[in-house]
Amino acid sequence: DINAYAPTPPMGWNTWNKFACNVDEKLIRGAADALVSSGMKDAGYHYLVIDDCWQVSRDGKGNIVADPQRFPSGIKALAAYVHHKGLKFGIYSDIGTKTCQGRPGSRGHEFQDALQYAAWDVDYLKLDWCNTGTQNAPASYKTMRDAIDATGRPIVLSICEWGKSKPWLWAKDTGNLWRTTDDIQDRWAGKKKWDEASCCSNGMLDILDEEADIASYAGPGHWNDPDMLEVGNGGMTNVEYRSHFSLWAILAAPLMAGNDLTNMRPEIREILTNKEVIAVDQDPLGKQGVRAAKNGDLEIWSKVLADGSRAAVLLNRSASEQEITARWIDLGYPATLSVRVRDLWAHKDLGSFKDKFSAKVPSHGVVMIHLQP
Ligand code: DGJ
Repeated sequence: DINAYAPTPPMGWNTWNKFACNVDEKLIRGAADALVSSGMKDAGYHYLVIDDCWQVSRDGKGNIVADPQRFPSGIKALAAYVHHKGLKFGIYSDIGTKTCQGRPGSRGHEFQDALQYAAWDVDYLKLDWCNTGTQNAPASYKTMRDAIDATGRPIVLSICEWGKSKPWLWAKDTGNLWRTTDDIQDRWAGKKKWDEASCCSNGMLDILDEEADIASYAGPGHWNDPDMLEVGNGGMTNVEYRSHFSLWAILAAPLMAGNDLTNMRPEIREILTNKEVIAVDQDPLGKQGVRAAKNGDLEIWSKVLADGSRAAVLLNRSASEQEITARWIDLGYPATLSVRVRDLWAHKDLGSFKDKFSAKVPSHGVVMIHLQP
């Protein structure tokens, strides 16, 4: 059962959001070292994934070839380095003829590539959707699923077709996570067109909105993926990054950091390694949170946890500080229930409340709480 490969949402680090095609083995070794020394590994970030641009060609037998200039020691040695750090190693391909950056894709080479990844000791494969022409998404990804299964190695499969064919409806037994939208960009909100041919990139809140209706399709082993984290990349304020991280945790989203770990400000490390927030994301029940209430720019998101308690995010989308009230009835609790409330960013117990809890929330900020009856 492939769902056993990712009982909680995968956590790790991926090269793309910060480094795009600028990847080499030095960067990967440095990231592996930094995952350990920064405390990120201890906080749960276990997968180190090289995204697009590590590959350059195929050899005479059709085997995929890593860029010899950028990866002179080869991928197997790099995977060994990452494993030696106690981390897991991930790689990227595309199920079409070419990757989004024009490198060789896996189309027609699925079984050959899967065998190669297994021989390199790969633990995680992100599989993109560029240059797929008229290919059928479920069938295309299933071919790679079968190819991975044939190797016998339990490789986590990250489906990256941007939600085009509604993968939440078909991908549960094919992949462990599936992207639900076009790419995230490092900004609070607002869609932007890439170019005339393709559609949009998303601000953080645009992705959040697209997740609201598909919560029921996620569960242990098969997760909606609202794309990787931008925390620390510089396009949002620390308050906004805290919101981004809290909301991804409420969504039970895969938490793939995408910042420069070797040059991380303490405030950013504090956000990414907040163990109380990560525990919400990683709760073993694996239930994705939902928008429980909305009043203009003020929202309550809530997530049911394994022990019957709840986590909630009070989100203020507006341009000024606002008081936000979370009502028990919106969270599925009777109004008369006495509930202990803990602030997961202040790391403080706030006392017992009945009926509701109110807090002042900064502009573009959140208050994230745990509610224990
Ligand atoms: C599109 C994906 O959505 C991104 O996450 C990234 O993998 C790029 N392709 C790489 O070309």
